[in-house]
Amino acid sequence: MRSKIISTGSYLPEKILTNKDLEKIVDTSDEWITQRTGIRVRHIADKETTSDLAYKAALEAIDSANVDPLEIDAIIVATVTPDMPLPATALFVQEKLGAKNAFAFDINAACSGFMYALSIADSYIKNNLAKKILVIGAEVLTNMIDWQDRSTCVIFGDGAACVLLDATENEDEGILSMKLHSDGKYTDLMIVEAPGSYKPCSKDVIDNRDIYVKMKGNETFKMAVRHIVEVSKEVLGDVNMEFSDVDLMISHQANRRIIESVGRRAGLPAEKVVISIDKHANTAAASIPLALDWAHKNGEIKKGDILLLNSFGASLTWSAGIIKW
Ligand code: UT7
Repeated sequence: MRSKIISTGSYLPEKILTNKDLEKIVDTSDEWITQRTGIRVRHIADKETTSDLAYKAALEAIDSANVDPLEIDAIIVATVTPDMPLPATALFVQEKLGAKNAFAFDINAACSGFMYALSIADSYIKNNLAKKILVIGAEVLTNMIDWQDRSTCVIFGDGAACVLLDATENEDEGILSMKLHSDGKYTDLMIVEAPGSYKPCSKDVIDNRDIYVKMKGNETFKMAVRHIVEVSKEVLGDVNMEFSDVDLMISHQANRRIIESVGRRAGLPAEKVVISIDKHANTAAASIPLALDWAHKNGEIKKGDILLLNSFGASLTWSAGIIKW
């Protein structure tokens, strides 16, 4: 038994913040942001919650597969920005969809969250615990951003995207292999210190701006390129493939220069490297499914194509997967 993506869906909030708009908020420029990151716009959720975004992405995937919500066995939401600490965001998505027969939960592996969720769903399917599973990456990151910090506020955005997995007996399609890694030595590279058991909610944590993302961007950048290349080689090795077998690489969209650098090291031509960061910025767990959905809708993925997915996130998580479409 293998798991196969039978449809995709995505949702980006209507409100857009351009690089030019950011020039009025912090000391930055459209030119710097475009050249250093590849980002042109980011979407802002405003009053919508993470589960609102996740629901809309999931609905599109369900509708395009012509599946009844009652057929959904499980819903996994990968997010670092849940609606609230308790209950899980996935339960709000379940209720909004009317997916009464599903079990639902969230996972947090930062920007690798979608990949970790995909691997969990893949295991459920292989072990016959579930068949139709919604794997969603959804974030409202713009509430967690320090709008006074130009090194972080220009790179993040809000959004959600989803894949619907189903079981297939065809051994020649679907998720062929996945590799996951993490390293707790580098938790300070990208961190939101509060509120939590480490620093419970208080006026102090708000005054100290501990509720916002802090990131050592340059160090993270270098580690990202190295780890993504290594884990990609590892997962390709698992299925006796090489970079030359890959038809399309879909990476976490953190920075255009990271993705292009990985593409160059892998020897992949530009047309085999999906870049969608210009349209939605870094949306953490939502970014890989957003790029996948964008490539799918754009007709870039054909039946039988070998997709290499890879991720890197706080701090540190990294992963890769091979999918035969
Ligand atoms: O999502 C998963 C984890 N995150 C990532 O993978 C993100 C990885 N990191 C990055 O994408 C990049 O490091 C950034 C986009 C965050 C920063 O780009 P960089 O090329 O690494 O810049 P830098 O931090 O080395 O800073 C270079 C200069 C500095 O000025 P000086 O010291 O050279 O005068 C910064 O102060 O750019 C300055 N700078 C800015 N200038 C204009 C930093 N942010 C900005 C800004 N606008 N928004």
